[in-house]
Amino acid sequence: MRSLVALGLFVAPVFAVVGEWGQCGGINYTGDTVCDTGLVCTVLNPYYYQCLKGTATTTTTTTAPTTTATASLQALAKAKGKHFGSATDNPEFTDTPYTSLLFSSMFGAITPGNSMKWGPTNPSNGTYTYTNGDDVLNRAVAAGQIVRGHNLVWYNQLPSYVSALTDNATLQAVMTAHITNEVTHYKGKLYAWDVVNEPFSDSGGMRSWLYQTYVGTGYIAAAFKAARAADATTPLWLNEYNLEYAGSKYTTALSTVTDLVNQGVPINGVGFQGHLIVGSVPSQATIVGALNAFTALGLDVAFTELDIRMTLPATAALLAQQKADYKTIVNACLAVTRCLGITVWDYTDKYSWIPGVFSGQGAALPWDENLLPKPAYDGIVEALKA
Ligand code: G3I
Repeated sequence: MRSLVALGLFVAPVFAVVGEWGQCGGINYTGDTVCDTGLVCTVLNPYYYQCLKGTATTTTTTTAPTTTATASLQALAKAKGKHFGSATDNPEFTDTPYTSLLFSSMFGAITPGNSMKWGPTNPSNGTYTYTNGDDVLNRAVAAGQIVRGHNLVWYNQLPSYVSALTDNATLQAVMTAHITNEVTHYKGKLYAWDVVNEPFSDSGGMRSWLYQTYVGTGYIAAAFKAARAADATTPLWLNEYNLEYAGSKYTTALSTVTDLVNQGVPINGVGFQGHLIVGSVPSQATIVGALNAFTALGLDVAFTELDIRMTLPATAALLAQQKADYKTIVNACLAVTRCLGITVWDYTDKYSWIPGVFSGQGAALPWDENLLPKPAYDGIVEALKA
């Protein structure tokens, strides 16, 4: 029998490359996914990836979400003894599709991204306004969610009447007054307070700012003591970024927090903010080591502001790496009993702080700007289910 080739009937498999502007991926797409030389498969939305001029020569595989966001992250996290939450901000409450998902069973914890900070709540000496913070709290409570107080003392978003001060005693007096008033207002209503936020320098040592300069490191202990005096039970946390690996910032944080614990300062936890970069997330073992260094002091830990940014545009390869990176963080928290949960710094790229601060970067969250779940969402689900 003569072969089909000899008959001229054999058709070699064709692995076509996609030209510029051609589709190369997306939900339900089954065509070719490899872009021509000089083009990169770029995610325009979960349903449509297009070959555009770029630095990469090929794309990997289609990494569109394989599910819609039907699995509750909170339900999955709760089954593992954790919570899964999102930050939010009051101006977003006019966006009904956004609030429908935010204040739903998808999330179990809410952090106000701005409205409980010192500047917004105490704009002038003796004036307190909790309208926006209360709005976040009331919406979350109505949805059966817990709320994290964020934050009492931070170098940023200070009221101008405080920024103008230089006198040690006056600085301590206004800090105590503010903490006492706000913690009393929210007494018994929050699952934790971020009492002191970002007190450490990125290069090690203490961050140089108003209170560090004019009061000294003792402002940290004083803030925790004032918060505890106003509320005897709400857990009090220190919150910081870049603690996920053993660098100089981590070293300073660990020694400072150790001192606080040894001095009997009422601190209950350390928040790992988790503002991370796609492809540069430390290994799970490294992160678990960092978390455990603080739990060994008798403290709780959590990921309090997680987002994992990338250089735009979001390519299929970057989204796939981001999915792996989110899984690493979830797995690290799951590996540490005293890691209480994970909160993303808002859940959608639509309201992320990243593009406004890091030019050319973004797409850091598990939902895209159209509120559609990204591969990162699938990664979180997979890790929580495993
Ligand atoms: O409220 C004013 C509004 O009246 C004004 O019209 C507008 C004009 O720019 O500014 C509004 O304030 C902005 C505020 O967010 C509320 O939207 C500030 O300019 C803006 O700087 C502020 O950004 C916040 C940032 O903290 C402040 O540094 C972000 O939303 C918030 O997500 C971010 O959150 C921080 C955490 O608290 C601590 N860890 C890092 C994280 C990201 O920076």
